[in-house]
Amino acid sequence: MKSIFYYLRRFNERAKSEYPISLTQAILIFIVNKLERIFYAFTTLYGKIKLILWGASIGRNFKLHGSLVLNNYGRIIIEDNVRINSVHYYVGGGNQGTILRIGAQGTFIMKDGSGMTNTAVHCFNSITICEGAMIGGGCLLMDNDFHQTNTFNRITKSGNISNAPIVIGKNAFIGGMSIIRRGVTIGEGSVIGTGSLVTKSVPPYEIWAGVPAKFIKKIERDS
Ligand SMILES: CC(C)(COP(=O)(O)OP(=O)(O)OC[C@H]1O[C@@H](n2cnc3c(N)ncnc32)[C@H](O)[C@@H]1OP(=O)(O)O)[C@@H](O)C(=O)NCCC(=O)NCCS
Repeated sequence: MKSIFYYLRRFNERAKSEYPISLTQAILIFIVNKLERIFYAFTTLYGKIKLILWGASIGRNFKLHGSLVLNNYGRIIIEDNVRINSVHYYVGGGNQGTILRIGAQGTFIMKDGSGMTNTAVHCFNSITICEGAMIGGGCLLMDNDFHQTNTFNRITKSGNISNAPIVIGKNAFIGGMSIIRRGVTIGEGSVIGTGSLVTKSVPPYEIWAGVPAKFIKKIERDS
């Protein structure tokens, strides 16, 4: 947790900048930030209670900023150090907050150190977010078609609804407002550009973007 000294240092920097702030402003910002932390401690607790009531398992150091919309008829496994943001008016997108809708046959797993912001998760099969992966604001992860796509079957409510697992690889980063379709695996360390529609699996350490998402470039280690 940041101390008063952190904010005084920041104030000192701002005081010398082109747009200085007053000491009163700095103190009020400090107080507001502390109140916000207390508020988020409550939203985390409330979210944990809700998740546990819906049968989820939750690891250590879970953080939830905001309030979840949640229906779990399957399995939710949240490992250690997971963070979920679910806040309105987030600059990155997704004013609906975070929605988890897990069907009876669905398994949703967030592995150690993964996180997501204002993301809608619709899981009838399996969605796994691997270690350290980050999902940007306003994304949709949907491992199924929600309805039969054969019109005759849809009218008679017969036949299967297509579904296939989604895997977001270790340390992958999904840009804000992207849609990940059923059957897609995003490879370890890969990045998806803002506003992409991903219909095919992405190999490790590549950047893909667009509608539908296409290969942009490989991610190399800086020498
Ligand atoms: C995809 C991304 C990682 C590429 O960044 P970069 O490595 O710096 O690459 P550049 O900006 O040079 O773009 C490379 C090419 O990809 C294209 N591109 C970049 N972002 C794109 C996107 N979102 N959709 C489609 N094409 C995109 C560029 O037009 C460029 O095309 P060109 O080579 O034909 O000129 C970046 O644009 C991005 O979308 N980051 C995600 C940001 C985000 O959503 N954050 C989370 C908010 S909650």
